[in-house]
Amino acid sequence: MKTGITLATGLAFAATLGTAALSDGHADKAALAAVKARQATMQLYAFNLGILGGMAKGAIEYNADAASAAATNLASLSSMNQMAMWPPGTDNGALGDATAALPAIWNDGGKVMEAGMSLATASAAMAEAAGGGLDGLRGAIGAVGKSCGGCHDTYRKPK
Ligand code: HEC
Repeated sequence: MKTGITLATGLAFAATLGTAALSDGHADKAALAAVKARQATMQLYAFNLGILGGMAKGAIEYNADAASAAATNLASLSSMNQMAMWPPGTDNGALGDATAALPAIWNDGGKVMEAGMSLATASAAMAEAAGGGLDGLRGAIGAVGKSCGGCHDTYRKPK
């Protein structure tokens, strides 16, 4: 799957374009809408990963169709072009408690892209594996979780 490219490209765009994007009178509204959209995307990641994680742990009975659906959703979500959700000027330094996004996202060169790529790659592998049995799902979930956590460790304000 070509999942990695769009997220990575989106974040790259966000880092290079748009310093003027928030400079008009609608700045706050536009900024908060972008924050809300990316937080909603993250919630959808978590919802779908929660289904897969529940099955991996045995808390939810394994079902191939449900596993495949959740994994495909996750792969689709992680391949979305998120460019407009990460405009410069929407870090937690600028917007305070409205966002947990650290300024490093916009200052870290290619590293945040690598983090996005690693989710896209891991969720594409999960989408291949999840419908084929619990062992395959279990084998794929570590890399997905690691890609979420790896990005959060560096780019999200700790709670
Ligand atoms: C490329 C970096 C990156 C990746 C990959 C990533 N996240 Fe996030 N996540 C963030 C950032 C940054 C925030 C803070 C966003 C904000 O508050 O504006 C966040 C916030 C969240 C939130 C809180 C959302 C809210 O309502 O405030 C959840 C839940 C979450 N992530 C789950 C996940 C899961 C599950 C995955 C993996 C499937 C994942 N994230 C992958 C960077 C990432």
